[in-house]
Amino acid sequence: MNWLNDNVNLLTLIGAAVIIILTVGVAGKYIKQMKTDKSTGELSEDNWDGIGEFKNPLPMGWSLAFLGTIVWALWYIFFGYPVASFSQIGQYNEEVSNYTKRFESKWANPDKETLMGMGEGVFLVKCAPCHGITGDGMNGKAEDLTSWGNEEHIVKTVLEGSKGEDYPLGEMPAGMLDKAGATAVAAYIIQDLTKTGNSKHPELVKQGKALFATCAACHGSDGKGNSGSAPSLANYGKAQFVVDVLNHGMDGPIGKMPKFNDGRLTDIQKTAVGTYVNSLSEE
Ligand code: HEC
Ligand code: HEC
Repeated sequence: MNWLNDNVNLLTLIGAAVIIILTVGVAGKYIKQMKTDKSTGELSEDNWDGIGEFKNPLPMGWSLAFLGTIVWALWYIFFGYPVASFSQIGQYNEEVSNYTKRFESKWANPDKETLMGMGEGVFLVKCAPCHGITGDGMNGKAEDLTSWGNEEHIVKTVLEGSKGEDYPLGEMPAGMLDKAGATAVAAYIIQDLTKTGNSKHPELVKQGKALFATCAACHGSDGKGNSGSAPSLANYGKAQFVVDVLNHGMDGPIGKMPKFNDGRLTDIQKTAVGTYVNSLSEE
């Protein structure tokens, strides 16, 4: 039998057997004693149909336990749940939030290397189960992050559209521009709106700026997303863009990604994983 090879199971079984043997033995002893024992001591005057009462004092242990119960009850009522609303879950949440605060202040101003290290750690634990250890999306199970978030990906997004991030404006329709137009708009977004200034097609920026009118209807003329109605394109390629994705979650054509806005990750952890994700698509 397999479960007998497990030391913990075996120990539990031996423990259970010992408890049963002791219980049967002790109970048997007292039952026998009840049959033969004669009580002794002074009887009180009261007598009910021939049944008397001994004048024995209360056993010390019993009295102490009784008083102890009253003290405990008072403590519980006034310092525990009923009056002070104590709860273990509340205490746990408080400890977690204190720890989070300490964590956030300890890493308030991380350098790039610290961010990357922290980001890689978070990625391997929280993101790799779906996106794969290398971020390649494990054959289409999730977004391929090694080709996401860069200039080419804007082109792809304009051609294919985007949905599932739960923005007030809903879905972004596919095919608003052709490939040449999308390439120009992408150059403008990377060069001018994100202010990273490293578009691969600087010669297309001017044309892209004119075409951006198509996008401005939803993303705003400054590309910042019309106060949260659509994603801010000014953050494209920056850690903050990934943070926006994490806060929104995504239920798109590939599948469903949960929202990470419930405290599972602290702000600095989100920035860190955003920095790391962006590094995956840099050549
Ligand atoms: C009809 C409104 C609308 C227009 C017009 C529009 N977008 Fe969008 N865009 C959205 C919305 C809404 C989202 C978020 C969609 C989602 O849930 O994934 C989005 C998302 C995006 C994203 C981010 C996708 C991602 O990976 O998270 C990019 C990049 C983008 N739009 C670029 C553009 C460009 C460039 C144009 C102009 C050619 C444009 N959009 C025009 C509404 C619009
Ligand atoms: C439960 C699986 C799952 C987990 C965990 C997960 N993702 Fe995703 N993620 C997805 C799927 C699926 C998509 C593609 C959604 C679609 O386009 O249909 C996606 C898409 C993305 C995108 C692209 C969104 C866009 O706008 O196109 C980014 C960036 C991303 N994930 C980052 C992360 C990061 C960072 C983590 C870890 C903190 C993470 N994901 C954890 C499943 C997951």
